[in-house]
Amino acid sequence: QAKLVESSKRLAAYQAVKDYLVPTYTRIGIGSGSTVVYVVEAIAALGPGVTSGMTFYPTGAQSEELIEAAGLTLQAINKLPTGQQLDVAFDGADEVDDDLNLIKGGGACLWQEKIVATAAKHFVCVADFRKLSPRLGTSWKKGIPIEVLPMAAPRVLDELKRMGSLNPRVRPGLPGKAGAIVTDNGMWIIDAPFAPLHLPKDSASGVQAGNEDNGVWQVDALADRLIKIPGVAEIGLFYGKNGLEVTAGAQKPVVAYF
Ligand code: A5P
Repeated sequence: QAKLVESSKRLAAYQAVKDYLVPTYTRIGIGSGSTVVYVVEAIAALGPGVTSGMTFYPTGAQSEELIEAAGLTLQAINKLPTGQQLDVAFDGADEVDDDLNLIKGGGACLWQEKIVATAAKHFVCVADFRKLSPRLGTSWKKGIPIEVLPMAAPRVLDELKRMGSLNPRVRPGLPGKAGAIVTDNGMWIIDAPFAPLHLPKDSASGVQAGNEDNGVWQVDALADRLIKIPGVAEIGLFYGKNGLEVTAGAQKPVVAYF
């Protein structure tokens, strides 16, 4: 299984770069996680003839290192002038539903990931076959990652429980390290499990949205509520129809986009 997963990630990444990295692009966002390693590998494999005119914008310390190690030109997203956009951003995900809504943040990089994703004209999510499920929260059981101000964590946990989250908790640090995990932005992550989410009311896939009354949230309604909790900096729900494209790799990659 582990071998299959790695080859699926690799296949999806190479396919995504082939399909969505247009050689005339100059500004490219690079996300975080283990799948993005293959995205950067695929980009570097195109050679300086293609990549020398391109600048790459990272979503955190890991992706910064990846870009530099591949010999690509690095630039911080705050150097992108106002009024300008990235041509495309590539990133991974923890789970992808029928509508191509995503859970992200398993690697604790969601805040910068969302800034880079929303700064791009096109967002390409590269996901291996395990990540696809009809509803968010089906295969990714750890919960929705939420980046919070550390001093607000207890109050945010209380509110999440009131909203029906089952056992939300502050993500612990790496093994052998005491305390909570600290993000690139000096924040903590709370993982908040919810019963599998219904698709938004105006579901892009046309699948019938569920009824909220039974205590099950719709993706958009939950996202709206979560982001408004005082102390929440950003949430790991990425949704909407703004050019989101998902490349899911199996033995034979499937490319879905709208
Ligand atoms: C990082 O915070 C995440 O959003 C990653 O994009 C996500 O966890 C996917 O990571 P993998 O590619 O390692 O599965």
